[in-house]
Amino acid sequence: METIDIGGLPLPASRIGLGTWAIGGWMWGGSNAWEAVRTIQTAVDQGINLIDTAPVYGFGRSEELVGRALQTGGRRAHTIIATKVGVEWIDGQIYRNASPQRIRQEVEDSLRRLRTDYIDLYQVHWPDPSVPIEETATAMGKLLMEGKIRAIGVSNYNAEQLARFQMVAPVHTVQPPYNLFERAAERSIMAFAESQAMTILAYGSLCRGLLTGAINSATSFPADDLRTLDPKFQQPRRGQYLAAVGELEELAKTRYGKSVLALAIRWVLDRGSTIALWGARRPQQLAPVGDVLGWHIDRQTMDRIDQILTETIRDPVGPEFMAPTQVPEVRSGVGTTQPQAAAM
Ligand SMILES: NC(=O)c1ccc[n+]([C@@H]2O[C@H](COP(=O)([O-])OP(=O)(O)OC[C@H]3O[C@@H](n4cnc5c(N)ncnc54)[C@H](OP(=O)(O)O)[C@@H]3O)[C@@H](O)[C@H]2O)c1
Repeated sequence: METIDIGGLPLPASRIGLGTWAIGGWMWGGSNAWEAVRTIQTAVDQGINLIDTAPVYGFGRSEELVGRALQTGGRRAHTIIATKVGVEWIDGQIYRNASPQRIRQEVEDSLRRLRTDYIDLYQVHWPDPSVPIEETATAMGKLLMEGKIRAIGVSNYNAEQLARFQMVAPVHTVQPPYNLFERAAERSIMAFAESQAMTILAYGSLCRGLLTGAINSATSFPADDLRTLDPKFQQPRRGQYLAAVGELEELAKTRYGKSVLALAIRWVLDRGSTIALWGARRPQQLAPVGDVLGWHIDRQTMDRIDQILTETIRDPVGPEFMAPTQVPEVRSGVGTTQPQAAAM
């Protein structure tokens, strides 16, 4: 396994991290608890020692399954649990809430569900416009000083928000969306994070499965699956993205004897101080991990990849569908907060 250091943590982190959003079931058409536990254990046993989760993934279910999976075989001590804070759910609707009170309550809930007495990496899930960033940072800094958490991360922040946070508390990692098809982070948060020696946890490394080669024009999804909302998965765009996947598959095969999935994860790893978060909910989905390690994409192939994307994807779209779409009043006395329309 390739590793990378995360400031504040004694264990080097594997450069592939297991993403456990789908394991929570919510927004992914459900999940099987037994398979989920086996997937987490398989990941750890394969050398993937960073597990990314969040309270909102299945409204506590993903964290609970992570806690259950790590309880046996001495796995907890060798694992970096990266969970998140700052999204609450009320009657099945979700809202940003990065207030100090919410953080204080959530950390205890997460510790209980994860069956642990410390969180290795605690990440603010989304910036909350209704709470000054300095207040959120102060609350996170206190948890660090108390030893409840060992490192701080932010997710979905822009560079300006990150700079403000950093004035108050240390930031060890950032977590933007980042994959071959979704590259906005390169131009802002990733460059800033690299300049500050932070580690980048890239989410959606497989573009929600699109970059696995397992999806075709006929693939359908259950109603409660975010891919029914994702504009990349709707025709005619899906055809453009699949054409790119087809050409990338051919390129990976002829240049390296690899699959498009291995190319996609390797691409994330070869772009900087990154950890590729790989979402999986069945153990066999992690079978190709070995294909990703021990090689690099050369400059010429990087250029060819860009050329393929330009030629095939005429109507590109980013992961903005995950961003909030409305701003209702939900917390009396705290101002407005924003529900997350689709994804986390
Ligand atoms: N901070 C944030 O706001 C945020 C947002 C999104 C994600 N994340 C994190 O990043 C992680 C990764 O992102 P993601 O889970 O959204 O998407 P992803 O990693 O791009 O794609 C995951 C999906 O790809 C498919 N897949 C994985 N391995 C496969 C294989 N070997 N063969 C075929 N298909 C395979 C699976 O779909 P099926 O199971 O349907 O086949 C899986 O659920 C998340 O789990 C979460 O931890 C964070």
